[in-house]
Amino acid sequence: MAVDSTSRIARSLLRWYDQYARDLPWRVRPGSNVAPDPYRVWLSEVMLQQTTVATVRERFDLFLTRWPAVAELAAADDSDVLAAWAGLGYYARARNLIACARTVAQAHGGTFPSSEEALRGLPGIGPYTAAAIAAFAFGQRAVVVDGNVERIVSRLFAIDTPLPASRPEIYRKMDSITPDARAGDFAQAMMDLATAICQPKRADCLICPLHDDCAGRGAADPLRFPVKAARKLRPVRHGEVWWVTRGDEVLLVRRPDKGLLGGMRGLPGSDWRDGPGDMPGKIGADVVHVFTHFELRLRIMTMTADEASAHQLTGEYWPIEQLDEAGLPTLYTKVADKMGVGLS
Ligand code: ADE
Repeated sequence: MAVDSTSRIARSLLRWYDQYARDLPWRVRPGSNVAPDPYRVWLSEVMLQQTTVATVRERFDLFLTRWPAVAELAAADDSDVLAAWAGLGYYARARNLIACARTVAQAHGGTFPSSEEALRGLPGIGPYTAAAIAAFAFGQRAVVVDGNVERIVSRLFAIDTPLPASRPEIYRKMDSITPDARAGDFAQAMMDLATAICQPKRADCLICPLHDDCAGRGAADPLRFPVKAARKLRPVRHGEVWWVTRGDEVLLVRRPDKGLLGGMRGLPGSDWRDGPGDMPGKIGADVVHVFTHFELRLRIMTMTADEASAHQLTGEYWPIEQLDEAGLPTLYTKVADKMGVGLS
């Protein structure tokens, strides 16, 4: 490769990386002649999909001591690996980790494949992880784009399109600046730059090695990038909830297993609808609760136990004094608060 075909951005960043690269247990120092261990690179990438570099740093050595190579991990008991994974995120990832180790041990003779395409065929390895392993472990030219890279590329090129629509453009730009040699170091340098200098809420442009090439800095406010799409307004749903009392007790029901708050105790109520209703009954107060995908407005209706039986409302009557022990989700503790019980 002719020197000139490497972008100035790549040259500046690699020079910076040669001096400031973080020492991480799955990396080799830039310029060293030792080849990185693909098992370590893969393991670190799967862990990093879920948690921070600081946490992985702490946990990585424990895994390595216990299962120093992919064959050993492949032969481990599922339950041991799942237990060691505790605190590193979803179990589905740990299950894929075991499945991937076994596939590599059995179908690939214990050696990770080196091409992006073959890596993508392994359990739990998506486009990002395949590119990362191909580049970091095997020195292949691959375009590695994670959240860090998205931020830096968005700033470097002052990309006005909001995320996630800008992803194809970010990928093309990253492709255009990724060098043929040291593509893995280049991407890891981006990640180090993202941690040390070009942070989400703080950009130390004056000491940035890409200072002269950054359109975001030129645009006066680099923190404006990546542009985020305006949040969609949350839809509002409506329903009724019944506060049914019998002496010092209130009627509780068990919510259906499927759906929101599935299987939890709650107060009886109507289905949640897109529009307000006009249920008969004595009107209490409204409770508003924000779920991830919608806002719920519940109208509280009071009812006697006799009225409830007439409406075939069944459940368990629970002492109001001990309502804090019923394990009610916040939506319903808010209702209880409105009714003067004071749970939260
Ligand atoms: N995040 C994901 N992979 C990483 C790596 N190799 N170095 C630093 N941060 C990372």
